[in-house]
Amino acid sequence: MTQSAFDRLAPTYDADFTATPIAAYLRRVAHERLAQLVQPGARVLELGCGTGEDARAVAQMGAHVTATDASAAMLAIAAEKTRGLNVRVAHLDLNAPQASNIGDTFDGVYSNFGALNCAEDRAALAAWLARHVRAGGWAAFAVMGPFCLWEMLWHGAHGQFRTATRRWQPSQFQIDDSPPVTVTCPTPRQLAREFAPHFERSSVRPFGLFVPHTAAYAVVEKRSWLLRPLLALDTITRERSSFAPLGDHYWITFRRRDE
Ligand SMILES: C[S@@+](CC[C@H](N)C(=O)[O-])C[C@H]1O[C@@H](n2cnc3c(N)ncnc32)[C@H](O)[C@@H]1O
Repeated sequence: MTQSAFDRLAPTYDADFTATPIAAYLRRVAHERLAQLVQPGARVLELGCGTGEDARAVAQMGAHVTATDASAAMLAIAAEKTRGLNVRVAHLDLNAPQASNIGDTFDGVYSNFGALNCAEDRAALAAWLARHVRAGGWAAFAVMGPFCLWEMLWHGAHGQFRTATRRWQPSQFQIDDSPPVTVTCPTPRQLAREFAPHFERSSVRPFGLFVPHTAAYAVVEKRSWLLRPLLALDTITRERSSFAPLGDHYWITFRRRDE
């Protein structure tokens, strides 16, 4: 069977990404934000869980987590990482969620680091989620926006204008001959519109504004004189909603409407 691009990334995902200082910093921010939403004993759904870093943290907050992804290789690592915790690992394709056997109703749903950018019809996904999140429940997503300042300045300065503007239209993510994954980067306003029939936007904040986009992690991380002030600036500005669209991702939360 042909492996997906994410199956191919899975074996080294934690070493290449999770363990880097910038990803670890952002993960701490995500966990602080999730801790404000997750009640002990809550039933929580994760979309695009990858290797299960967040599922482990949310389970340790006392929740019952259903951690889902379309990549079998990612799910296998997530299952191993969360063994012994209150985590159920399950296959769910964001482009065909109705084919999954997730029958429960959840108190909340979350997704970190751009998994939602791989959903081709987010309005349909929101409608599906509305059937699985209780009225008054919450949703929290870290989504790649179209205007990442770091990416535009970095690649623009290197004369890579196609890369600098790649988020402005749908793009294909592929590794070698893997089936392409279509990636789209909605603004917070667009995403809120797609979710609006069922979910009311509660907040939006930057998620990685002064820290660089992934392609420049290594360059910055090697220079602690640069990394330290950038992390400090990010910490100071990370609650400023007006800056949210300019980050590598933004963190957006919703409340499930009473229907
Ligand atoms: C950048 S990774 C983020 C993983 C994880 N959320 C994290 O915080 O590290 C994106 C994840 O989205 C998953 N994904 C991509 N397309 C998907 C789809 N159509 N349905 C479900 N998951 C998908 C990938 O398999 C991958 O695990």
